[in-house]
Amino acid sequence: MLQQPISAADLAPRWQDYVIPQDWAHFTAEDHRVWDILFARQVAALGTRIVQPFRDGLDLLDLSRPGVPELAELNARLEPRTGWRTVAVPGLVPDEIFFAMLANRIFPIGNFIRTYEQLDYLDEPDLFHDIFGHVPMLSDPRMARMMERIGRLGTAGIARGEGERMARIYWHSVEFGLSREGGAIKIFGAGLASSFGEFAKALDGADVERRTFSVEAAAATPYENDHMQPLYFINEGVEAVAQAIDALAL
Ligand SMILES: [Fe+2]
Repeated sequence: MLQQPISAADLAPRWQDYVIPQDWAHFTAEDHRVWDILFARQVAALGTRIVQPFRDGLDLLDLSRPGVPELAELNARLEPRTGWRTVAVPGLVPDEIFFAMLANRIFPIGNFIRTYEQLDYLDEPDLFHDIFGHVPMLSDPRMARMMERIGRLGTAGIARGEGERMARIYWHSVEFGLSREGGAIKIFGAGLASSFGEFAKALDGADVERRTFSVEAAAATPYENDHMQPLYFINEGVEAVAQAIDALAL
């Protein structure tokens, strides 16, 4: 009997291959304590210096309950609002997997949390960054639409050998963007929302550069992910960024 030839597409990893069970019971008492300390400290420090959609999302998702959130419970509140859901993954996933997840309204959550000794600094995103930083904004319908679009554009860009372009736009908005809101500059990006050390520097620091966001300027600006950013782009809010990204060709 003739076998179908195996194509490259059959062998390429799929986003589903990276999903693991959260196994919430494996988190230790210290893990839960670290979440509680990080959460309380970050909410108090950010106050109203973070954009309103983020604050609304924190309330809607009831993230203030003690301990590491259970993803199934989080999804029960998130998915009916915007169709987004979270999945656990072992750690950072390759860009093509990440964008494929976003295109399907799936957000990957690294299934580990920093230790007490690492409260202030961690060189890879843990579940505090992934949940606290990203998930509140995913409850906003405009952000929900924009993140799916980023996933589609990123997937198409990688297929053309231009994945870096979308990665930069993502970095300078979703991760490290600032936003003008009500006459003030506020935190927009998840990398800043979840960082005790960096958000105040981004807002108030004298030794950083702040530029007006545009997708073209962001796409043309490289970044490094292993130290605090020297440059932040200021956007005009989630709807403005979503419209600019909508306007990009696939
Ligand atoms: Fe992130």
